[in-house]
Amino acid sequence: MKISKKTILVTGGAGFIGSHTCKILKKNGYIPIVFDNLSTGYKKSVEKFKLIKGDLSNKRLLKKTISIYKPEAIFHFAALTSLPDSLKYPKKYFKNNVVNSKNLIDIASSLGVNKFVFSSSCAVYGNSPKNPVCLTSKTKPSNNYAKGKLIIEKYLKKNNIKKTLSSVSLRYFNASGADPELEIGDMNFNSKKLIPRIMYSIIKKKKFFINGSNYRTKDGTCIRDFIHVCDLASAHLSALNYLKKNKGAFKFNLGSGKGHSILEIIRVFEKITNLEVKYIFKKRRNGDVPELYTKKKEIKNFVWSPKRSKLFYIINDSWLWYKKNLKKIK
Ligand SMILES: NC(=O)c1ccc[n+]([C@@H]2O[C@H](COP(=O)([O-])OP(=O)(O)OC[C@H]3O[C@@H](n4cnc5c(N)ncnc54)[C@H](O)[C@@H]3O)[C@@H](O)[C@H]2O)c1
Repeated sequence: MKISKKTILVTGGAGFIGSHTCKILKKNGYIPIVFDNLSTGYKKSVEKFKLIKGDLSNKRLLKKTISIYKPEAIFHFAALTSLPDSLKYPKKYFKNNVVNSKNLIDIASSLGVNKFVFSSSCAVYGNSPKNPVCLTSKTKPSNNYAKGKLIIEKYLKKNNIKKTLSSVSLRYFNASGADPELEIGDMNFNSKKLIPRIMYSIIKKKKFFINGSNYRTKDGTCIRDFIHVCDLASAHLSALNYLKKNKGAFKFNLGSGKGHSILEIIRVFEKITNLEVKYIFKKRRNGDVPELYTKKKEIKNFVWSPKRSKLFYIINDSWLWYKKNLKKIK
């Protein structure tokens, strides 16, 4: 392969958000090089790209990959992502999400990479008392997953002071939707996330459980901020362009700027599918915050705005993706 200045190393590129980002990178003239151990990612999602099958703990392979492809930037998606599992398996999460990320950052800066985009999470805010949350809101992670994200954000900041690596940490809100061309989408057909779970309940004609009906929100159910996966993907290009003009360690919130309650989401589902979502209320779940959403735009120079994050598009694209893959839904 011809090495170009426009090569981007995408760790975790075979995963849900990483694969959509690879597609957008290619559309914009970049060459994504995917580094993924395929633990939760899928070869099929990146069949059009160069895939290095490897684990982030393999420092030799990482060094070799960076030395060969000389990426202009690294987009670091690779991580374990289950919040409850991070409490069950703290060591596993620390090793994969913290130790491996620090190694990657050290290797990248020692080999001259100077731009790094990190997949952080709104989970760093924890049980935020004031919504919408903004970058000045207090961080208070309540699980090991979110603690790990914050450790890496701080490490990137420290690294920037010592060395030359500039970075953007993107604190995503809830990623959903699918590629509107339906080439790729969420390949985890057992996902425990809200939108897929509602979808499965419709497809399998089972009841959907809503955890908690008495939160102090407009209709008693939890409120979340959903962001279309394609808007998240395009934000990585914005982050890259931002790093071409700015040096430092930056962070941005990536949400739609609007909170939606679970009942509101169910109503949009019913409208799109013309099918009824049968639900029952259950007890509140430990650790669920009543509401979490962000401001639409906080940083003027960060050129990005969500284009497909209206609830209608998010649910419609997801629905079409799952309908296309109906046979895979057990
Ligand atoms: N999906 C969301 O709503 C959301 C919200 C906030 C933050 N994030 C963050 O975004 C990133 C991507 O999330 P996603 O939803 O696409 O998850 P995903 O599980 O689909 O993707 C993660 C990818 O990383 C790979 N991976 C994991 N550990 C690895 C290792 N040690 N070496 C090599 N590859 C490894 C997996 O195989 C997978 O392809 C993660 O860092 C996640 O924490 C996601």
